[in-house]
Amino acid sequence: MTTASDDDHRSETAPVSLSAGLRTATAVAHERAERADFVDDLMSGRLDAADYLRMAVQLYFVYRALESVGDDLSGDEIAGPVVDERLRRLPRLAADLAVLGVDPATVTPLPGVAAYVAAIEATRTDPIRFVAHHYTRYLGDLSGGQVIRSRMKLHYGLTDDALSFYVFDEIDKLKRYKDAYRDTLDTLPLDGVQVHRLLDEAVEAFGHNERMFAELAG
Ligand code: HEM
Repeated sequence: MTTASDDDHRSETAPVSLSAGLRTATAVAHERAERADFVDDLMSGRLDAADYLRMAVQLYFVYRALESVGDDLSGDEIAGPVVDERLRRLPRLAADLAVLGVDPATVTPLPGVAAYVAAIEATRTDPIRFVAHHYTRYLGDLSGGQVIRSRMKLHYGLTDDALSFYVFDEIDKLKRYKDAYRDTLDTLPLDGVQVHRLLDEAVEAFGHNERMFAELAG
């Protein structure tokens, strides 16, 4: 039951914009992820194509969970507006892995990735937290992912047919899409408490990515 005092609390604690709140809340975590040894080495050309492949197969487990939950929540009032067929990555990742000669069925998720997958699975009944996971991966793919793609081609000679994961060819202008995505976030019907849950989960989602990079480096 909603009471008048709940409503008061809501208006007092709701930040101006969820998208700005997300960017601010995850800024430090983003910097850490970008500077992670594995990411830095991969992006600087100090590793090899096999290391990219080790990451890609782990991401397969992440996206399998993300898109399975996304399918379940596509009609949800809160999660539904961000779920978009044009973002779906799993078939592309599967095709890339096939080109690179790896069958994900023969690979075990790293412990941190298993925990990441479990965290995503737990959002099947928690659309607010799901949005945090959605934001963390897809807005990253639409941003830094584009840099990763060009570096993988440059340093390791990976070809376009092995990097389709980073290609959003059903989206015309990535920047415009990201701006519209942020507008969508900003119109989600969330109260202040819910916004804080979402922000906390986004920081957790970055943490899962950080742990994955640490395990890939180890
Ligand atoms: C190679 C490492 C990375 C590079 C070079 C990179 C680069 C960037 C850049 C340039 C932007 C700004 C794009 C814009 O303002 O439109 C961005 C945004 C973003 N990145 Fe990364 N990134 C990296 C790693 C990651 C990782 C590991 C994650 C999380 C899994 C991530 C998640 C995000 C998110 C969610 C945004 C959107 C921020 C916002 O506008 O709210 N990035 N990234």
